[in-house]
This record gives sequence, structure tokens and C-alpha cells, in this order.
Amino acid sequence: MGGQLAGKSALVTGGSRGIGRAVALRLAAEGALVAVHYGGNEAAAGATVARIVEAGGRAFGVRARFGEAGAVDRVFEGLARGLAEHGAKGLDILVNNAGISSGSSIGQVTEEEFAMLMAVNVSTPFFVVQRALPLLND
Ligand SMILES: NC(=O)c1ccc[n+]([C@@H]2O[C@H](COP(=O)([O-])OP(=O)(O)OC[C@H]3O[C@@H](n4cnc5c(N)ncnc54)[C@H](OP(=O)(O)O)[C@@H]3O)[C@@H](O)[C@H]2O)c1
Repeated sequence: MGGQLAGKSALVTGGSRGIGRAVALRLAAEGALVAVHYGGNEAAAGATVARIVEAGGRAFGVRARFGEAGAVDRVFEGLARGLAEHGAKGLDILVNNAGISSGSSIGQVTEEEFAMLMAVNVSTPFFVVQRALPLLND
């Protein structure tokens, strides 16, 4: 596929649904190879990858549940595997999109819920950036 991102590769966290899916579809339509990360909804991730492939693009899924031990390792293991399968080297674009919100009011938030919000929305995206930096092409 041609386009201004031909030959580039992108990782979109939470790329399986919602805003992340829209970003993944757009990057793929511009020619990027897209790693569609997701937390657990295999069907949604598969549908996003299928839509990209049916449109002539290239994509693969990467499963890792943020908030679980070893999640960042699993992101980069899946990314490395997918890039290798597609003959791609390094990463050009990182979209840190995966996230969750709380349905609780301040008075109802538990320490467990707060810790999960911080893990998914703050610490994991930080360490995804940290691990991506050495892979990022110029
Ligand atoms: N929609 C809005 O109005 C709005 C407003 C402000 C900010 N945002 C932010 O924009 C981003 C996308 O929002 P959205 O509405 O498009 O979200 P969404 O439709 O709920 O999709 C969330 C995506 O993140 C993934 N995800 C959720 N929890 C995860 C976890 N623990 N580990 C790994 N992946 C996880 C989901 O994958 P699985 O389904 O497989 O878990 C899915 O791909 C989020 O960071 C959100 O906080 C959204």
C-alpha cells in the first residue's frame, strides 16, 4: 500500500476499539504497518486487524493487559514478533492511547481502583515509552 507512511511501523495501544481503532485504521490507510495492541478483547482486535488487511493494509495484534505483572514485556515481545513476521525493523510511531476511566465519585474510589487507574493510565504508558525509545527510528 502506498501513502505517506509506507515503510513505517506504528504501535497503537488500545488500538482494538474506539479512538485507538480509528487511529489504527487511519495509520494503516496511510501505509503504516500497525501493531494493534489490546487488553483482552480478542474479537475486537481481530476485527480491527481484519478491516486493515481487507483494505489492503498490514497489521497484527498484540495482547497485553495493563495493570498485570509483565504487561510491558508482553507488549514488546508481541511487537518484536509481529515486526519480524512482516520484515520490519524498529518503530516509527507510538500512540499511547489505551486507558480507562472511573465510574466512581471521589468518595467511592477505593485504593485498589485508584491503583489500577494509575497503572493503566500513567505508569504503564510511561514504561511503554521508555521501552520504545531504543526502537524508534530517526
Ligand atoms: N472516549 C472519550 O470520550 C474519551 C475522552 C477523554 C479521554 N479518552 C481517552 O482516550 C483513550 C481511548 O478512549 P476510548 O473511548 O476510545 O476507549 P475504549 O473504546 O474503551 O477502548 C479502550 C482501548 O484500550 C484498551 N484497554 C482498556 N483497558 C486496558 C488494559 N487494562 N490493558 C490493556 N488495554 C486496555 C482496550 O482493549 P480491550 O478492550 O481488549 O481491553 C481498548 O482497545 C483512553 O485512554 C481514554 O481514557 C477518551
